[in-house]
Amino acid sequence: MSLIHINKVSKDYHLGKTIVHALTDININIEKGDFIAVAGPSGSGKTTLLNLIGTLDTPTAGEIIFEERNVSNLPDREATRVRATKLGFIFQTFNLVPVLNVFENVEFPLLINERDNAENRKDVTELLTRVGLEQYQKHRPDELSGGQRQRVAIARALINKPMLILADEPTANLDSKTGENIVDIMLKMNKELGTTFIFSTHDPKVVRHATKKIYLVDGQVDKVEGNNQS
Ligand SMILES: Nc1ncnc2c1ncn2[C@@H]1O[C@H](COP(=O)(O)OP(=O)(O)O)[C@@H](O)[C@H]1O
Ligand SMILES: [Mg+2]
Repeated sequence: MSLIHINKVSKDYHLGKTIVHALTDININIEKGDFIAVAGPSGSGKTTLLNLIGTLDTPTAGEIIFEERNVSNLPDREATRVRATKLGFIFQTFNLVPVLNVFENVEFPLLINERDNAENRKDVTELLTRVGLEQYQKHRPDELSGGQRQRVAIARALINKPMLILADEPTANLDSKTGENIVDIMLKMNKELGTTFIFSTHDPKVVRHATKKIYLVDGQVDKVEGNNQS
């Protein structure tokens, strides 16, 4: 089932008097349950594309349809709502709260909901077990390796059961082997929970693990590999 249609999307940035064409005429179809790598060298438009899909930025032209709704020009409050209810984000710098332990970092997004505490605790522990961190719940981020921190970030992104997780170079600060391992954990979550993942990377070893690959060059789609291309 189709989740996102990216229709003729372009994004220009104005830098003084020059215009940077960050993305030009992008057409991509994303299905529910896809596990997508957006690959391309630095400056090819990966972050811009993820920001547009994540309603963090608006396209200069074209439209982004998310669950049959045009989300490309939503008012701020609506965009915030979409992000809070539908999306999870993973960043290359992990963005964990340093004074909170692993359990508390993952629990954090749940605290704005009025949910039963015992239910929260059960969900947090279950997710931490799934990403292999059940023994580390009391550790603080500075007591963990980079790969372990990124696993915490994955669990935190998943805790609200978003339909889509966007991860901008989640393996950039990890060695290749740890990076591949992180992508395998995301793939496991994709299979077990059905969550759609879109992550960017410039590491071919990491790209290899994705089931669908979108290659960007100079802000354009160079090729698409994998299932249901558009
Ligand atoms: N806020 C901005 N202002 C001006 N130019 C930008 C901005 N963000 C990105 N760019 C430019 O857009 C192009 C694509 O950038 P980006 O999406 O960050 O690529 P990637 O994530 O693949 O490295 C680059 O030329 C970059 O310099
Ligand atoms: Mg980038």
